Amino acid sequence: MKFRKVMTLAMAAVLGASLLAGCGNSAKDTQDNAPAESTTGAAATSTVPTVTEGKLIMATNAYFPPYEYYEGNEIVGIDVEIAEAIGEKLGLEVEVQDMEFDSIITAVSTGKADIGLAGMTVTPERQKNINFTDTYATGIQSVIVREDSDIQTIDDLQGKKIGVQLSTTGDIKASEQFGEENVEKFNKGNDAVMALSQGKIDAVIIDNQPALSYVASTDGLKILDTQYAEEEYAACIAKGNDALLDAVNGALAELKEDGTIQSILDKYISAE
Ligand code: ARG
Repeated sequence: MKFRKVMTLAMAAVLGASLLAGCGNSAKDTQDNAPAESTTGAAATSTVPTVTEGKLIMATNAYFPPYEYYEGNEIVGIDVEIAEAIGEKLGLEVEVQDMEFDSIITAVSTGKADIGLAGMTVTPERQKNINFTDTYATGIQSVIVREDSDIQTIDDLQGKKIGVQLSTTGDIKASEQFGEENVEKFNKGNDAVMALSQGKIDAVIIDNQPALSYVASTDGLKILDTQYAEEEYAACIAKGNDALLDAVNGALAELKEDGTIQSILDKYISAE
């Protein structure tokens, strides 16, 4: 009886130790190009500098399905699951903060959040203010119009009222190409789609996945066949926090390698 108890305790200790060792086997090892099975960098968890110790605060704008959106009171989606997978690797608990898309880079660069994950496109302009991790997905700018619209190509958008989400790449590109005066900027992508369906504007330029999701949930809308621009999504991290950048890149590399990223994408995006 007594013997069995001792055995159980000993086993628990061994299990605990191997779990701890497993935790340490994260970004740091990858960074040093150590084999994935290595259990050396046991201190990796505690060395990742974040705003609040033990936490990974993720800044996002939760109106961008299927990357981030509300399910009841909870924010879910591809980016949330990727953040959680990264957090697990780094021993950090993820806290999601919803804000305007326009505020994400500032929140991260001023130390209010650790990481921006928001289906955010890597652009040279943004890179002046923030660092991007390696990319984890691609996006395409799509044009949504009403089903009965006479707009068939990008050229047909000349002189039309185009809705976008403020400060997104859709906004930046549309404003450049069609003139600020023709671009109506909404805080949320769904407000732009609503305005389109109510006939207040003629088109919406937005990333393809939210476009598909909005068109599926709103009557009378369609997506033009012509694609507007192809882009790469990455997470953003404050300039100067290279330790976190390296750790997240290390975690991302492992999550790509073992198929986790792909299975998260597949869970939310059905193959066409
Ligand atoms: N990919 C576009 C950009 O970076 C749109 C991202 C919008 N994301 C969001 N969570 N609302 O500008």
